[in-house]
Amino acid sequence: MVLEAIRYKEGSLKILNQLKLPHQEEYDELRNAEDGWHAIRDMRTRGAPAIAIVAALSLAVELQNNTISDKAEEVAAFALEKLDYLVTSRPTAVNLADAARKLKKIVDTVASAKDNDGAAVSKAYCDAAAQMLIDDVSDNEGIGRHGAEWITKSAGGGPVSVLTHCNTGSLATASYGTALGVIRSLHANGSLKHAFCTETRPYNQGSKLTAFELVHDKIPATLITDSMASALLREKGAQERIAAIVVGADRVAANGDTANKIGTYQLAITAKHHGVKFLVAAPRTTVDLQTKSGERIVIEERAGKEVTMVKGPRFDGVDLDLSKHEIVSIAANGIDVWNPAFDVTPAELIDGIITEVGVVEKNSAGKFDLTLAMEAHN
Ligand code: MRU
Repeated sequence: MVLEAIRYKEGSLKILNQLKLPHQEEYDELRNAEDGWHAIRDMRTRGAPAIAIVAALSLAVELQNNTISDKAEEVAAFALEKLDYLVTSRPTAVNLADAARKLKKIVDTVASAKDNDGAAVSKAYCDAAAQMLIDDVSDNEGIGRHGAEWITKSAGGGPVSVLTHCNTGSLATASYGTALGVIRSLHANGSLKHAFCTETRPYNQGSKLTAFELVHDKIPATLITDSMASALLREKGAQERIAAIVVGADRVAANGDTANKIGTYQLAITAKHHGVKFLVAAPRTTVDLQTKSGERIVIEERAGKEVTMVKGPRFDGVDLDLSKHEIVSIAANGIDVWNPAFDVTPAELIDGIITEVGVVEKNSAGKFDLTLAMEAHN
């Protein structure tokens, strides 16, 4: 069975509610852009590429199931306003803004062409949104292939062990995944010895989602808490000696600085200290050449209760009741909390950026030049 975070067919969009994983698999129906906005903001759907695709498709099903107007300019105005609204759902991942920009361009072009009516604008929008779902899968397969080749070669041959952080798999994308796609590809080639995933506090995307995907795909894997990463990397004699840390990205700035799930930066520091390769895996939809460096990336801050409370199945001291979940406090009442959802890893700590068209390495001046990789990408 293939893991499907997004189920789309014309007129119908369902998302796997990731707040309920790994204990319950429930799909929520999204009927319009407002449903899409809330699914993203509430974290029922997650991950930079998935957020963009769900946003785009939520408006597609709204257009498919409602006649907004016969007039091209009125459908265009409606779509542009909804796209602006969808972009406000979460700020850090650039994929959503990138998708909205491309879709707006299509809407504008079709609406301004002579003789086109409202249905033509609506159809052009829906076709382009559906294509994003298809393209993301092939992009991820390319990332997986290039990343697996690069890591195996740099390790002088496989099988290798790798560490990853957060969730970058089928649940965070249209399918297959970015960093987790690299792990899937290593495994499919027989080049993976072992995968390690971090718990990824405070939202636990690693223990809830990545671990779920690794178990689902029967990939040999071990879960660690975020605080165990340096100790793992120091285990030089261990059979599982780590060849590379591979993570996803929410936004890669023009100089290669990368915003990703909180905790990524400390992994890059420990990788450098231990001489372990540190790789970012991201489709070109995540590269933002307009943002020159990481200092300009807006980092989303989330509610303190995500740090002070945990949600899990009810435990009566003997058995877990998977059908009932409860929220419990794990911190002193009244403590102040800082909860940035992402951090920025400086380019100097990154060895390569794995895209669907190849791995971008630093040039002779020690800098990433992403313009060439982005040339054919509009
Ligand atoms: O806050 P989330 O759960 O949406 O964060 C997800 C991540 O940060 C992923 O690492 C990121 O989007 C990588 S893209 C596959």
